[in-house]
Amino acid sequence: MDTQKETTAPNRTALPIAVFDSGLGGISVLRELVRRMPNESFLYYGDSANAPYGTRPVETVRRLTLENIQRLYDRGIKAAVIACNTATSAAIIPLRERFADLPVIGMEPALKPAVLEHEHACILVLATPLTLREEKFAHLLEHYSSRAQIVRLPCPELVEFVEAGAVDTPEVYAYLRERLGPYRGRADAAVLGCTHFPFLRGAIRAVLGDSVALYDGGAGTARETEHQLLAHGLRSAAAGRGAVTLENSLDDAREHALSELLFALPENR
Ligand code: DGL
Repeated sequence: MDTQKETTAPNRTALPIAVFDSGLGGISVLRELVRRMPNESFLYYGDSANAPYGTRPVETVRRLTLENIQRLYDRGIKAAVIACNTATSAAIIPLRERFADLPVIGMEPALKPAVLEHEHACILVLATPLTLREEKFAHLLEHYSSRAQIVRLPCPELVEFVEAGAVDTPEVYAYLRERLGPYRGRADAAVLGCTHFPFLRGAIRAVLGDSVALYDGGAGTARETEHQLLAHGLRSAAAGRGAVTLENSLDDAREHALSELLFALPENR
């Protein structure tokens, strides 16, 4: 009698891709990931209970990010997308050390394409205070600051607007007019260096003017994620659409409804 047990290795390609953010902003990246790889499964986790991250000390953001990714990792995932510029700035190095067997894809403000397409122009970088003061962004600036006039604009309040679901309210427009109004007619491009901000694209464009080019890292992150999956032999070959699960540390009906709403929002380029 054959007593040998069957030991088939679990099919890693079928596991979901974790997509993590401090809150709801990473859903803007999730949308790009799904658009690019509709047959993959995604497990989105937003930590809205602890948002915003961008005004917290870097050590706290690092700890929260590592704890959240650990929990997702323990559930079985094949890759982790850190759909948050702030968490990436704080934690990408320890994440890659701790989860060495997992592709971990991070984000940074899309300054490179903005400078390449607008040499010597005025480029605004809208991001959280943490992203703008950390080493990762300092390296980017070092690289590109001689090629354009780069203006750093910390906008933590915009994160709070999106977390509250207020993407098109008089309060958002009033805030943006005050913060960005002085750059109307002066700025040629704006980098949306926080994943919450693409949800405010329409309002930002209305305040800065139609001729301003807006850049965000969502599509580039989706491209890089697919590249990493292919390089690790993890890209799914499944037919049909994969499952998309939206979870949040604020586990209530309002947060779920808001997550679904942002995921389904019509495109606003
Ligand atoms: N969505 C995050 C980012 O891309 C930041 C939001 C926060 O401050 O929590 O930077």
